[in-house]
Amino acid sequence: EAPLHDLIKPLGWLLGTWRSEEGFGHYPTIKDFKYGEELQFFQVGQPNIQFSFYAWHADTKKPMHREIGFIRIKPGTNQVALIGAQNTGLAEVEEGHVEGQEMKTETQTLARLSFGTPPAIRKISRIFKRNGDVLEQVLSMETENTPMTTHLKISYQKVN
Ligand code: HEM
Repeated sequence: EAPLHDLIKPLGWLLGTWRSEEGFGHYPTIKDFKYGEELQFFQVGQPNIQFSFYAWHADTKKPMHREIGFIRIKPGTNQVALIGAQNTGLAEVEEGHVEGQEMKTETQTLARLSFGTPPAIRKISRIFKRNGDVLEQVLSMETENTPMTTHLKISYQKVN
């Protein structure tokens, strides 16, 4: 494995594989739901971390939401950018900060398909926080119909 690039050392705590069968989904416009998800964060010696977030249906195990991308840091700062592409057709840049083992980001730029399914997303915000071998993610979103509200809450166990 390539040595971790100095510039992304503040994000080293994310590296590895994280898994949960106990994700909780919510939004005012939909029925609450459970889901599973596996996250991978890895690096190849460059000043970025690559990630994949793959979710599945809690009962049927069928693949659901999928997202891939990169995380970067502005050199010499604790400012981070998360660049992601989602299977639903959303492409996004979020920016924010890393403090210790916590990273908070929110949408800076967002692109959707001309034929995307409504409601259009306006903004996403996320918090990743590590506590020992547990990683927690809370994701909130704003759509054209609904103000910023929590959509996902999930605690992953470190599996690798
Ligand atoms: C519904 C966005 C991640 C499962 C929705 C809706 C939007 C959305 C816009 C429709 C809300 C409405 O109709 O008002 C997003 C975004 C995500 C994300 C931007 C990530 C950044 C996930 C993940 C799962 C998930 C990881 C896990 C399986 C669902 C489900 C619904 C839903 C089950 C309800 C679908 C329905 O009843 O038709 N999401 N989502 N989402 N989302 Fe997500």
